[in-house]
Amino acid sequence: MLAESSVIASCASDPREKSKKYLVGGIASINRKADPDILFQSAEGAHLTDSDGKRYIDYHAAFGPYVLGHNAAAVNAAVVNVISEQHSLYGSGTTSLEGDLAELICGCAPFLESVALLNTGSEATYQALRLARAATGRDHIIVMQGGYNGWHNDVACNLMTPLKDLGERRTGDEYPFLGISAGIPQSHKDLVHPVEYNDLDAVRTVASKYPTAAIILEPILQNIGVVKPNAGYLQGLRKLADELGFLLIFDEVKTGFRHALGGYAALSGVNPDLAVYGKAIANGYPVAAIGGRKDILELFNTTDAAKRVLLAGTYNAHPVMVAAAIATIQHLKSNDGEVYRRFEEQGAWLQNALEDVGKRLGVEMVVARQGSALCPYFMDHLPVDWYDLASHHNFDLDQCVRKQMIADGVYVFPIAVKQWSISAAHTQHDLERAVEAFESGLAKAIVD
Ligand SMILES: Cc1ncc(COP(=O)(O)O)c(C=O)c1O
Repeated sequence: MLAESSVIASCASDPREKSKKYLVGGIASINRKADPDILFQSAEGAHLTDSDGKRYIDYHAAFGPYVLGHNAAAVNAAVVNVISEQHSLYGSGTTSLEGDLAELICGCAPFLESVALLNTGSEATYQALRLARAATGRDHIIVMQGGYNGWHNDVACNLMTPLKDLGERRTGDEYPFLGISAGIPQSHKDLVHPVEYNDLDAVRTVASKYPTAAIILEPILQNIGVVKPNAGYLQGLRKLADELGFLLIFDEVKTGFRHALGGYAALSGVNPDLAVYGKAIANGYPVAAIGGRKDILELFNTTDAAKRVLLAGTYNAHPVMVAAAIATIQHLKSNDGEVYRRFEEQGAWLQNALEDVGKRLGVEMVVARQGSALCPYFMDHLPVDWYDLASHHNFDLDQCVRKQMIADGVYVFPIAVKQWSISAAHTQHDLERAVEAFESGLAKAIVD
């Protein structure tokens, strides 16, 4: 039998082998199982470098957080500072940092009356739904077909369900809960009702039939690219929530801080009862937040034990993470939101350039975009929901183009219908390289 040190030494030449040997599945998140299987070594600004020294321009952005680019100087400095000032996770009382962060977040939109700080988007959506159930005394929730709100029992369902499993399009009625995880109790599934995005009738039907605590949705579906709300849809949800007495929860884990300081709520002018943030809020550090109506968030704090929602977490508001979030938000706020103006310009340029590629190569395609997030779809119209997208998009072509682009040094998501993200570190040259790689990838893919 090998001594432990020699086992580790034998794996040391390829860290992937070590991970495969000791780490379940060889990866820390199922979403990192990718083809090609690249071992990344370092990241700086808009660039990634792999273990062979090959450089990539990064449009994946670690699933969205990198709004300022990797290792952004201001965020790194804040993190180093908090450590060198000998801050620690005190685990008791509060710190001045967390008050500063809460104030900054609440200053991002008027509907953000109060805020709770957590670590991950999944924790935050979990707690937001619990708050909604406690506030309304109801148990049922509505989620979006094609939406993703985290890994927990209420929401781990109906993300990119194949059409053969969905069956006929359902209008005005709910789809079955089609879990994306084993181990979800049937009692949970019975409480969760997936509906098609942009379908107000479906929401009315479900909420009239079941005692509904909340609807939770990404205001733009950004886990299937960039699927935007029809005019009046979010406003319609607000009205239905008020009329039928359920809470409107915007999951802004992807849209928040990436598109605007107050997230897509601020851009659409629709105030949710609660909004959930993560990812771009701290440029890659694990921070999440639930913000919104103080009367609801106060349920975390009520002295009435029967009504109190348990807010606990050893690592909530860890000083290092909080410092990273403060530095990120301050940077996003600086120069009167200059970052967002630049995103709009760069995003529009890239969108047009990609659409031109489609025209040049005679490929039917559209590019959906919000600010710095965009997604080319190989179909003849912008998708309005998952069913539409799954029925019309050419997934094989998409997958093939992405593979070619990665080989060409432009790291887009290796999975079809996933968004491309621009960061504040991307230059015009980086955008032009992406267009070149897209054009040559698409040209190769259509002849294959
Ligand atoms: C919209 C949305 N909500 C929630 C989550 C879950 O966040 P986390 O992975 O931090 O738990 C994600 C993650 O991708 C997401 O995209």
